[in-house]
Amino acid sequence: MNKKMPANGSRNNGKRKGISPNGDGQKAAGGELHQIAGGEHPSLTTNQGVPISDNQNSLRAHPHGPTLLEDFILREKITHFDHERIPERIVHARGTGAHGAFTLITSLAQYTTAKLLTEVGVETPVFTRISTVAGGAGSIDTPRDVRGFAVKFYTKEGNWDLVGNNIPVFFIQDAMKFPDLVHAVKMEPDRGFPQAATAHDTFWDYISLTPESMHMVMWIMSDRTIPRSLRMIEGFGIHSFRLINETGESTFVKFHWRPKLGLQSTVWDEAVKIAGADQDFHRRDMFEAITGGNFPEWELAVQLFTQEQADQFPFDHLDATKIIPEETVPLQVIGKMVSIAGPTTSLPKPNRWPIALPISYRASISPMIRSCKGVSFPISIPN
Ligand code: HEM
Repeated sequence: MNKKMPANGSRNNGKRKGISPNGDGQKAAGGELHQIAGGEHPSLTTNQGVPISDNQNSLRAHPHGPTLLEDFILREKITHFDHERIPERIVHARGTGAHGAFTLITSLAQYTTAKLLTEVGVETPVFTRISTVAGGAGSIDTPRDVRGFAVKFYTKEGNWDLVGNNIPVFFIQDAMKFPDLVHAVKMEPDRGFPQAATAHDTFWDYISLTPESMHMVMWIMSDRTIPRSLRMIEGFGIHSFRLINETGESTFVKFHWRPKLGLQSTVWDEAVKIAGADQDFHRRDMFEAITGGNFPEWELAVQLFTQEQADQFPFDHLDATKIIPEETVPLQVIGKMVSIAGPTTSLPKPNRWPIALPISYRASISPMIRSCKGVSFPISIPN
């Protein structure tokens, strides 16, 4: 703390005369250094963007203290610091993300007014995060687990989160069961293991009492939960969403991401060996592919159907444990997504895509029934 602070506590006592634009080494009345924006020096600002000259000396009532709580710059800096470490997510803590772009190939103007889905050829920036579900942030990349597939579209009309998994169905029919499911999936409470794995009693006890989960369990026990690469996984929005067109007509839609490299998996023996040899196998693969110019690519396909069609299905299409068979409602490819840059803290500008480490990002993607809310255009989950 600077002991030469002026008695009135001001940062520079109003005496800035003679300070050069770049402010190097300039001293204020109390002897403290100040930076003045100009030339090569961008302004130092508060988080709200208010230019400030000094975030090194707090306001005091007297050169010997006490420090004044009126100093909002001090309070902002300390509050920000105290909250720098985000508590770990309960699910999807381990993830790998990349910036990229979505380009629409086929217009859905007949079904929606959302520009993202009507303006053919326009590039929309996206951020895609693929995650495991059960393990902590430091867990291995290759356990047998569902993969989250979350895409945030930075559209002209607001941000839109399309949250999905690499399996087209979900464990439960009612979101209220989710905490119980996840507590069962997480490590046994008395021993703290196994990490990142479902092969333990609490999970199987839960599943044995929850018949609706059986469809999902069959998918989990398939090869798709031990993927070869995150560039080779599919993504599914799972829910039926609703598109609304200019005249107010509604059409249901299911979203599917399909990897250009095709769906590829390891076999269990390989997955086990990789887990021991390289805990970061998938994020390393993603980083090396992107920095090497092998940009991962996915097609976006939709299944579109009306309420009248839905009424004919022998199941409730709003039930997340059910798929809509592709032979009943075929997929139509409507766009493509290319991931081309590692994550940064700022939104990339077209043609100026930055590349940076580390590959982990806290995207504000909402779960289940909230998963499509961050939009100002008419796509929403019914009911
Ligand atoms: C079909 C159903 C669901 C899917 C596909 C899904 C998918 C996802 C995905 C992909 C993420 C990670 C998002 C990211 O990368 O930032 C996520 C996070 C999360 N999900 Fe889900 N989820 C589903 C249902 C639910 C339900 C029902 C709940 C709770 C009732 C839930 C609670 C959470 C929570 C708490 C997070 C962590 C959020 C955070 O801290 O950032 N999810 N989900």
